[in-house]
Amino acid sequence: MDLPAYVERLRSGAPPKFPADANSLQFAQKLDSQDSLRHLRDEFILPTKASLKKRALDGSIPGETKSTVNGTNGVNGAETEQGIYFVGNSLGAQPKAVRDYVNAQLETWASVGVNGHFTDMGQSPLVQWQDMAEDCANKSADLVGASPSEIVYMSTLTVNLHMMMASFYKPDSKRHKVILEWKPFPSDHYAIESQIVWHGLNPEESMIKIEPDDNYLIPTEKVLATIDAHADSTALILLPGIQYWSGQLFDIPRITAYAKERGIVVGWDLAHAAGNVELKLHDWDVDFACWCTYKYINAGPGATAGAFVHERYGKVDFVDNSESPSYRPRLSGWYGGDKRVRFNMANTFVPTPGAAGYQVSNPSALDLASVAAALSIFNKTSMRDLRSKALVLTAYAEHLLDQINAETDAAKPFFKIITPRDPAQRGTQLSVLLREGLLDDIAQALEQNGVMCDKRKPDVLRVAPVPLYSRFEDVWKFMQILRGALGL
Ligand SMILES: Cc1ncc(COP(=O)(O)O)c(C=O)c1O
Repeated sequence: MDLPAYVERLRSGAPPKFPADANSLQFAQKLDSQDSLRHLRDEFILPTKASLKKRALDGSIPGETKSTVNGTNGVNGAETEQGIYFVGNSLGAQPKAVRDYVNAQLETWASVGVNGHFTDMGQSPLVQWQDMAEDCANKSADLVGASPSEIVYMSTLTVNLHMMMASFYKPDSKRHKVILEWKPFPSDHYAIESQIVWHGLNPEESMIKIEPDDNYLIPTEKVLATIDAHADSTALILLPGIQYWSGQLFDIPRITAYAKERGIVVGWDLAHAAGNVELKLHDWDVDFACWCTYKYINAGPGATAGAFVHERYGKVDFVDNSESPSYRPRLSGWYGGDKRVRFNMANTFVPTPGAAGYQVSNPSALDLASVAAALSIFNKTSMRDLRSKALVLTAYAEHLLDQINAETDAAKPFFKIITPRDPAQRGTQLSVLLREGLLDDIAQALEQNGVMCDKRKPDVLRVAPVPLYSRFEDVWKFMQILRGALGL
C-alpha cells in the first residue's frame, strides 16, 4: 500500500494495516519518497546534535556551514546531523522565512523610521505596520476555517482568553457557571477562576469541571451530559480543542452545537489544535476561540497570538447615521478602532468591523513579522494535506510503539498510549504514559541522540511528529532510540 492509500483508509476510519516490514528504515523511506509535502522540511531550521549542545552564541546557524574543516565547521558528520524534532506541540521549529521577515522589518524601521506605519516597502515580504495584523488574518483563513474578518492577531493566548471572556462571559443570577475540563492547562484554569472571582462569584459554585473516564479521556457523551446537568445555570463552556496532556481532540462541532442549542456561549482554546488539525470555526458556529502561534504554527516563543470571533459579534451598526455606532461591548483600545479614523484622536470609539475591532494596542511589528513568516509556510500547502500526512505519521508512530510493547510481558507493558486510539479523536501528538521510573533514563537517551520531545513529570512522554518538518524516517529512528533505552 502506498501513502495515499494509508491516508484514505485512515480518513475513512479503517485501521492502516501496516505490513510486516513496517519496522524498517526502507519502509519509512519509501513512505517519505511518496510524501508530496516532503519539500516543506527545507523551509525549517532544525537543531543538530551539535547545536543542541551549544551554550554560547558563535554566529552559526544549524545546518549552515560557517567556515571549515571538511565543510562541517570542524565537527564530525554525526554531530551536524539534524536532530529529531518531535516537540512542535510545545515550541515549533524555526521557519527559515522568519529571519528574512524579521530582517525586512529591521531594515524598514532603520530606513524609514516612523513612516513604516504607513509605507509599503517594495521588495519586502511585509506590508506596512498598520496592516500587519490584518495580513496575518488573511493568511489564516484555511488554518482555522474562518473568514479573515473573523480572525485577529493580538496579544498572547491567556490575555486573549481574558479579553474574550470580558465580552462573552456575562454571568447573571441565573446563568453564572463556566464548564471546563478536569485538567485544563493551568493558565486557562487561572483565567476562568479569576474571571469568576472578578465578577464577585464563588469558583466553588461557578466552575464545573468535567472528569475523565478511567483512561484519562472525556467521552463526548460525558461533555453533553454535563451540559445537560447544568444547562440552565451555565453562561459559558470553555474547552481545549486538543487536551494538552492526553492529546484528545474534542468533537468541536457536536459540542458547540449542543451547548448553543441550550443558550450557552461556546469558546475554545485551540493552542494545541491550530495548525495541527482541520478546523471550520465559522461553519461550526463557534462563538470565540483563541490560540497561540508558537506551537504548531512555528512563529517563535511567546509570539503574537490569534483569536476568532464569529462574524455576528463583529457587526458595527450606525443606527440612523449616528456617529456612535452600536456594537458588542468589549474591553477597548485605540487599535480596535477603525483605522480610517484611528489617527483623528477623537474620543468616540468606532470599532473596526469584525474580529479586528477587539484589538486594544498597537501590536509589535517585529512579532507580527515572525507570525507572517510562519503563516507563509502554511500558505504553501493546506490544512487538509497536512492533516492527511499527520494521520499516517502518527498512526505509524503508534504502530511501532505497539510493537515495542508487544515484545515485553503483557502484564507489565513498558507504557500505555493514553491518547485516543481513534485517529479522528487526536491530532499529531501521542502521549505515552511510561511504567513508573522509566522517564529519566528514556529522556536521557533521547537527549543524547539529539531527540527533542516533551516530558511531563512524573511519567508522560509527549511525542509529536509534526508533518511540516518530520519524516517517517524520523519516526522510525526515534523508535530505535527508544528501543535502545528500554534494552531491546
Ligand atoms: C492550552 C494552553 N493554554 C494556555 C497556554 C498559555 O499560553 P500563553 O503563555 O501564551 O498565554 C498554553 C501554553 O502552552 C496552553 O498550552
